[in-house]
Amino acid sequence: MSISRTTPLRVAVLASGRGSNLQAIVDAIEGGQVQARIVAVISNKKDAVALERARKHGLTDIFVDSKPFAGRPDSREAYDLMLLERLQQHEVDLVLLAGYMKIVTGVLVNAYANRMMNIHPSLLPSFPGLDVQKKAIDWGCKLAGCTVHFVTEGVDEGPIIIQAAVPILDDDIPETLAARILVQEHKIYPRAVQLFAEGRLRVDGRRVLIEGAKPEGEAIISSA
Ligand code: GAR
Repeated sequence: MSISRTTPLRVAVLASGRGSNLQAIVDAIEGGQVQARIVAVISNKKDAVALERARKHGLTDIFVDSKPFAGRPDSREAYDLMLLERLQQHEVDLVLLAGYMKIVTGVLVNAYANRMMNIHPSLLPSFPGLDVQKKAIDWGCKLAGCTVHFVTEGVDEGPIIIQAAVPILDDDIPETLAARILVQEHKIYPRAVQLFAEGRLRVDGRRVLIEGAKPEGEAIISSA
């Protein structure tokens, strides 16, 4: 049974960089494919392009500086506590990490258990971490891709919601592969948010079950 909400899902996006995934979600909301409202875009980088994009769309943009906490043994937790206050002030239902390059601590993860998503440019659990397109090429993988998952304390480890695969071509370099993966990121992230908004995601241990999901083809075969 899907949950029908009387008010739109209140979403916050955390981003550190260019914010193309933020843009894809904004576009999907404005285009009516996603029933949600972005109530805050938050960055740890003052000059993040993501914040500029937020302002362009009349969204609340918030820079939270990590410098005041530097050197403290609990600097990451203290920073996340500050973020949590901001999220609570804005009555956020769902947090989206979109190119957010800080590791989130239990402070945020526990407050938003199964209500915080991340997008990662690999087919997890292969290649968590950084430089993952290069790692997939160097390993000799034939397929790469991207994953939207719920966030847990382990980096890139949470239950997987949705994935898309792309072929790795013989002449790929990390940048060309990243560009091909990014096209798919922009499709699956808005889709995951809409599934959440419709109340169709159920977490069962490591698995995320999607109510009413339709199978899309039997297999994805790499280029040959
Ligand atoms: C995206 O490719 C996203 O998957 C990746 O950073 C990029 C952000 O792009 N995230 C990670 O690597 C997190 N582990 P964007 O700022 O244009 O959305």
